[in-house]
Amino acid sequence: MPIKFDLVKYKNSVFVETGTYRGASVLSAIEAGFDRIYSIEIDDQLYEEARQRFADYITSGKVILLHGDSAQKLPEIIEREKELCTFWLDAHSQKFNFDNETLGAENCPIFFELDTIAKSGRNDHTILIDDVRLIKNKNAWRGHNVTLEGVIEKLRAINPDYTLQYEPGHIEDDVLVATASPN
Ligand SMILES: C[S@@+](CC[C@H](N)C(=O)[O-])C[C@H]1O[C@@H](n2cnc3c(N)ncnc32)[C@H](O)[C@@H]1O
Repeated sequence: MPIKFDLVKYKNSVFVETGTYRGASVLSAIEAGFDRIYSIEIDDQLYEEARQRFADYITSGKVILLHGDSAQKLPEIIEREKELCTFWLDAHSQKFNFDNETLGAENCPIFFELDTIAKSGRNDHTILIDDVRLIKNKNAWRGHNVTLEGVIEKLRAINPDYTLQYEPGHIEDDVLVATASPN
């Protein structure tokens, strides 16, 4: 889901997105003025389309697109990038009702992503998590044991003092926002 709120409120040096899709949020991050923008996409065709769409920004070094599973690629970014980041965690299968038999953990990587951020050595990154409605929906991400309580627990493990609030997305309060200092 493209970003529907004012991203400038959550601006740091670096924007890191999981799940590029058509690149709408890469564009929002460019417009918001982030210095560097990383985005990870698992799908071959979507990755290739984004590479063509943002070719000039990739050449200038502003946009860095990574192809693969965020569970594998996010650690590479964390290793390389020591600046304060705004994470937009939005990687998941496009299927709404997951079938636990056929979809692996790579299609619902939010817990892996939060565990990776926890190892960054910083506890002041801004973390935006999209699709709270799916996290809350027992028929959507149930197969992966992803719950809102579990997500909040992982955020608190990164920083017990995170301020948590919500922004609109597909519906009201669909984006969970964790900030180290209130915006
Ligand atoms: C809801 S869309 C992302 C929308 C996009 N972030 C935006 O703001 O416009 C989810 C994307 O995550 C991708 N995806 C799914 N699992 C992934 C994974 N494990 N790692 C990286 N990308 C993944 C899907 O192919 C899809 O393009």
